[in-house]
Amino acid sequence: MAEELFIEKEVSKKEKYEALLPQLKALVDGEPDLIANLANLSAALHEVFAWWWVGFYWVKADELVLGPFQGPIACTRIRFGKGVCGTAWKEQKSLLVPDVNAFAGHIACSSSSVSEIVVPIVDVHQTVVGVLDVDSEKYDTLDETDVHYLELICELISTKL
Ligand code: SME
Repeated sequence: MAEELFIEKEVSKKEKYEALLPQLKALVDGEPDLIANLANLSAALHEVFAWWWVGFYWVKADELVLGPFQGPIACTRIRFGKGVCGTAWKEQKSLLVPDVNAFAGHIACSSSSVSEIVVPIVDVHQTVVGVLDVDSEKYDTLDETDVHYLELICELISTKL
């Protein structure tokens, strides 16, 4: 596909995701390299939603290690069960954190980030192999609509493992 996204600016979040999903599928279709796909997916999400930080951590032994992302530099390693990312890995479920100050053990890679969503990515055995992490510098932007569509994007990634 052409290396350009077509998303209208003045539409709802849901409409943006609905327009984005097929374009993301087309973007990764035919490209077998995981790093290339994660890099383009993080760039696409950042371009459309302009979040403070969006990217991937990948499971390596007993840690999550920083993968492709868009945004400021970030912590490179997160232990199992630590922070929002390590907790989503441990609990094998998506976490929506509207206020990171209220999440005990939140890892502050950046003091500008105030709310966060982490979605696990699983392989065919339903084992968590990585997480998608979205950070916002605003309190009122991330919600269940984001969780729903980010889960669909992580399911897309699972089909490419
Ligand atoms: N806040 C995350 C750490 C990753 S950075 O935000 C990019 C956490 O608590 O797991």
